[in-house]
Amino acid sequence: MDRKLFDKYVLKTYNRFPVTLVKGRGMKVWDDKGNEYLDFFPGWGAGNLGHCHPKVVQAIHNQIENILHVPNVYYNEPQGELAKLIIENSFDGQVFFCNSGAEANEGAIKLVRKRNPHKKVIITLKNSFHGRTIATVAATGQSDYQKGFEPLPGGFEYCEVNNVDMLKSMMTDKVAAVMFEPILGEGGIVPITPEFMQTARELCDANDALLILDEVQTGIGRTGKLFAYQHFDVEPDILTMAKSLGGGFPIGAFAVKRQYCDILQPGSHGSTFGGNPVACSSGVAVINAIVDENLLENTTKMGDYLREKLEGLKKKHSIIKEVRGIGLMIGMELAKPGAEIVDLCRERHVLINCTHKNVLRLMPAINVSKAEIDRVVDVIDKVLSGIAE
Ligand SMILES: Cc1ncc(COP(=O)(O)O)c(C=O)c1O
Repeated sequence: MDRKLFDKYVLKTYNRFPVTLVKGRGMKVWDDKGNEYLDFFPGWGAGNLGHCHPKVVQAIHNQIENILHVPNVYYNEPQGELAKLIIENSFDGQVFFCNSGAEANEGAIKLVRKRNPHKKVIITLKNSFHGRTIATVAATGQSDYQKGFEPLPGGFEYCEVNNVDMLKSMMTDKVAAVMFEPILGEGGIVPITPEFMQTARELCDANDALLILDEVQTGIGRTGKLFAYQHFDVEPDILTMAKSLGGGFPIGAFAVKRQYCDILQPGSHGSTFGGNPVACSSGVAVINAIVDENLLENTTKMGDYLREKLEGLKKKHSIIKEVRGIGLMIGMELAKPGAEIVDLCRERHVLINCTHKNVLRLMPAINVSKAEIDRVVDVIDKVLSGIAE
């Protein structure tokens, strides 16, 4: 592929690695030169089933033979089927479909703002990440993502992660919602504590505010439950999702509890492609595959195994400060920036990620095997042994 042409015509909103990926199957991807890589960060969190899962490919194939797109003023079967699956696996309510995580959060923000005109404040977390649209950038508690885009929509206030006292002090009758990720993803793989989750729920109940959980990255089996909130004794009022819901096909959605389903009425919110039948067919195949193939159990087992192996590396390499995460959403905090390690792993044909500058992020497909984990841990071990700590 001619990368010079790509660089000439595609806006440079990303720093790209010098690799052109042309094929993916399960845990593996291949570049245009035929090199094979083991992918431990498939699709930037959108690859919980790995690449081209056969049931997902088949579902997309079947659907594209029938109709590619159905405007939302008509019914389409896959949209209804996916909504039913999401609700049956979360809480009673309804689903709105869109095309990305940012759009799912944007819709959730609109819903809580519309519910009560006197409540406009949304509390989010410092170091959170909720997307790149102007409202979700404002919701994101990291100034790096906001700089230069002012004026941002107002009304967002940022609480420190897991700081229960601060959350209590920020809660007033003006608060429309508290919104956070059960594990901060782009914020460095930081799990929310049960105490913080419980307090957020209780404060929302006591102050007539809604709890929005952003499960764009943690959802769809990543942590060993279909949604990460299911590890806690708490239900959100709104649950946003995207990434792996489509098995590699673009989709976003939010589920809302039954009592809040009448707030958005015809004309108040929408999306041309939201709920597209191809995307929804893919989503149905993803959720069915997770259930049919017992992948939640595998996630827990392999997550424990991977964390144990990484804890072993921690004993050997002083650069590793902490290993944390739930299920197969694992971060390894380093004492120095991790970009070089990501590059060195890629040179050894293992793809991983570094988030928040110094946290190596490992999120393999949830059907990963022990042998694949062993290989990746061995490569990381060799890379760490070769660099100055
Ligand atoms: C927690 C979370 N929310 C929202 C988003 C935005 O999703 P999208 O890129 O699909 O708009 C992301 C993307 O990384 C995310 O991790």
